[in-house]
Amino acid sequence: MPQTFDVEHVLANISEQDKIALLSGKTGNELWERHPLTKAGIDFWHTHPIPEFNVPSIRATDGPNGIRGTKFFAGIPAACLPCGTALGATWDRDLIYQAGELLGDECIAKGAHCWLGPTINMQRAPLGGRGFESFAEDPHLSGILAKSIILGCESKGVISTVKHFVGNDQEHERRAVDVLVTQRALREIYLRPFQIVARDAKPGALMTSYNKINGKHVVEDERMLNLIREEWKWNPLVMSDWYGTYTTIDSMKAGLDLEMPGVSRYRGKFIESAVQARLIKQSTVDARARKVLEFVKQASQVQVSEVERGRDFPEDRALNRKLCANSIVLLKNEGILPFPREIKKIALIGSHMKCPAISGGGSASLEPYYSVSLYDACREALPNAEVLYQVGAYAHKMLPVIDRLLSNAIIQFYNEPMGKERHLISTEPVSTTAFQFMDYYAPGLNRALFWATLVGDFTPDTSGIWDFGLSVFGTANLYIDDELVIDNTTSQTRGTAFFGKGTVEVLGSKELVAGTTYKVRIEFGSANTTTMKTVGMVNFGGGAASLGACLRMNREEMIENAVEAATEADYTILCTGLNKDWESEGFDRMHMDLPPGVDELISKVLKAAADKTVIVNQSGTPVTMPWADQARCIVQGWYGGNETGHGIADVLFGEVNPCAKLPLSWPVDVKHNPAYLNYASVGGRVLYGEDIYGGYRFYERTGREVLFPFG
Ligand code: BGC
Repeated sequence: MPQTFDVEHVLANISEQDKIALLSGKTGNELWERHPLTKAGIDFWHTHPIPEFNVPSIRATDGPNGIRGTKFFAGIPAACLPCGTALGATWDRDLIYQAGELLGDECIAKGAHCWLGPTINMQRAPLGGRGFESFAEDPHLSGILAKSIILGCESKGVISTVKHFVGNDQEHERRAVDVLVTQRALREIYLRPFQIVARDAKPGALMTSYNKINGKHVVEDERMLNLIREEWKWNPLVMSDWYGTYTTIDSMKAGLDLEMPGVSRYRGKFIESAVQARLIKQSTVDARARKVLEFVKQASQVQVSEVERGRDFPEDRALNRKLCANSIVLLKNEGILPFPREIKKIALIGSHMKCPAISGGGSASLEPYYSVSLYDACREALPNAEVLYQVGAYAHKMLPVIDRLLSNAIIQFYNEPMGKERHLISTEPVSTTAFQFMDYYAPGLNRALFWATLVGDFTPDTSGIWDFGLSVFGTANLYIDDELVIDNTTSQTRGTAFFGKGTVEVLGSKELVAGTTYKVRIEFGSANTTTMKTVGMVNFGGGAASLGACLRMNREEMIENAVEAATEADYTILCTGLNKDWESEGFDRMHMDLPPGVDELISKVLKAAADKTVIVNQSGTPVTMPWADQARCIVQGWYGGNETGHGIADVLFGEVNPCAKLPLSWPVDVKHNPAYLNYASVGGRVLYGEDIYGGYRFYERTGREVLFPFG
């Protein structure tokens, strides 16, 4: 059994410094980046230990649909479950309980005692960047599923941190926005899932949101935090969202126990001085420290792995497949599904056919153990059929990262830029051309300012002009066979990548021959080499870059080829949609449409072969479907995790009875949604003008048609 301690004994005997240190995340060791204010190292995921009193350091980890562990770069792969809205579509509390158990087991393997999930904010409008993370637009459904996943996870001894309390329903100005909402809507809609969780699950922790509610940041709003403890009689550890603590005194008084992550920005010596000045009572410090100790004591009872490792068992794969299949919503089916097994010729069309979208972006994303494409799943289901494959239309926002066509790739780290005498500090193997160094360190590396070189062999599978796109937080240039193809160092424009800290994608191109191996090289400068102003942004440090590549193809020809294949085949599956670059933490979508060109592809394929075509859409939240009337069969595939392809195929081929139902309303047009006139922060405020009439409540009351209804 892990060692334990007596909370009151520790509290009575530790030094004041240790007591205060408990109130914020752990300070990293000397290898970590130095925080500019405190000159101490940053650690994203741990609490402060006090070894003399057997008080261990507790590890927390993201996120809602899988357990990433402590590393953004070179992380240990993980089980990727279907996204929140997909889990919501199952409406199945027993199954969701099992998902929670799997997440608990994954935490244990990653050495984590505390899971940063589930997310139970509301899909007020279809464009919310994190809409895919939460379960449903209905507070009751959301609360009941949250309770189930929490109980499943906590049955493994791992503490669940339900988030984000409350009102983080949009990404635009998420730290600043003041949510103006009536008490009734706040209670009946936005607080209700948390209240259900408080009543039925009482998880060990709660994460505050970044935003304000009616004039006050929740993290420092005594009324809001008292509601949980005094009215709901639930006493979780209250931790801030990452860099979501903004004050010393107010947040302490309001009831925020733990500022995350370390290095502390508002606690530590600021609390010491506030106590001396009698601006914070000693009893308040004691109360917060007591809660942290109680949390640490409870969390430390679960025996977690000492090293971060993966666990990828057949029974987990089976559960994940079941979760995915049970989330697939048959939006429309006029006599096409299930497919017969004796199909001789099938057309598999679409951007997502070979590149499945497994998760949305931001802190929900992770390195999966594996992922199954719909293309491969269909081949498994129809081993003898002839397959006509066509992309039809690209659907990416950023060019797809290079992985499949990349070999022998490594990244080498230096403290000197290219062109100077360099001393190699470390080398890491990589399998893709995207990396985030926010948590990478190696002995001797100057985290504040370093350089890295990625080299690898790129072997295109088709001859022609290839487009390359490079986005960076820091600076980066792309060389192919030592020729400069992209300069993203000298002139940089802010984009949406890397939580909004990256540049827009800078493009370059080169004519390449199939089967020939080219040496790709990215010369990267870390975050602080950026030429963009970083005022007002959290600098996670390290920096990041993403290189994508794609064969340039003629748009019309791509569509023509797809139409030809659909005409010729016995049946067609057209799988397309959004992905983690379109739907992500950090920004909201600009519109509800599918990527440019995709509607035209779908419409033309349907014109040629509607009676034998199934359209599969992958997105976390609704998209417009101007071709919906033309289609005989539409399937909503969400972001399905590792087993995306299998899960969808199980429904298409009749292995699984399609039992999922929409957990949110699907408007015809974004303009029809109840929050349309009041979405996004205007002058730092957002008015929840629809009041309690969110989602289906609005459509029903106003008699406004939706494309597909909730439920
Ligand atoms: C997100 C949280 C997440 C945390 C740690 C924040 O930006 O809002 O949901 O748990 O980062 O990654």
